[in-house]
Amino acid sequence: MKLIRTKNYEELSRKAANIIAAQITLKPDCLLGLATGSSPIGTYDNLVSMYESGNLDFSRVRSVNLDEYMGLGGDNDQSYRYFMNKHLFERVNIDMTNTHVPDGTVLDSEKACAAYNALLAEMGTIDLQVLGIGPNGHIGFNEPDDHFAAETHCVDLTDATIQANKRFFENEADVPRKAYTMGIGNIMSAKMIVLVANGKNKAKALAAALKGPVTPQCPASILQFHPNAIIIADEDALSELE
Ligand code: GLP
Repeated sequence: MKLIRTKNYEELSRKAANIIAAQITLKPDCLLGLATGSSPIGTYDNLVSMYESGNLDFSRVRSVNLDEYMGLGGDNDQSYRYFMNKHLFERVNIDMTNTHVPDGTVLDSEKACAAYNALLAEMGTIDLQVLGIGPNGHIGFNEPDDHFAAETHCVDLTDATIQANKRFFENEADVPRKAYTMGIGNIMSAKMIVLVANGKNKAKALAAALKGPVTPQCPASILQFHPNAIIIADEDALSELE
């Protein structure tokens, strides 16, 4: 793993965006794996600025997102499809038909996961996968578990994740209890991974992921085995590492 330390969130966001921009410039029809959450918002803002200044062209870029809440459609402002449209897709010249997020409206989980796995197989290898990290070490919605899941699957969100994500919802009761997520195998098959982490509430998970044992109890720890994983983190997120 390569670790890039930044002073703050702004620097982290610029550096992550520069790497993604280089990928798009080198391979205009690249397949990006994209993440939601507050962590990559600044990265997406920087990509939008590069597009607006004429330095980045998304017209041939293709994308697959990591995860989606079960039960939420794209018109629900808490869905990850809504998030992606708002923070990136509607602000750049990406072809919407080239953007993919698991379909939260399909309540038959086997069907929903099989459809997304088929889509991922059809799209081919992810060139660059963007990741955040949950305070419990989750990536996508791969929660701490006794095994690493290979492909897209349906997860019961842990209480820690429901607590961490309730800030986006009106009431805790509104937070969906289940989600569809790409598996660890899908994530690890990406050619390059860029994980962004900021803030003190990520410090413990990041230290465990970078220096702890590789274990499904800290899903992000698997990145130690990836040949081209880049961790971009600010001082607060790295405060438990030294
Ligand atoms: C969410 C998402 C993850 C994200 C993580 C951290 O539950 N499923 O993909 O990385 O939690 O979110 P945030 O960046 O808001 O801290």
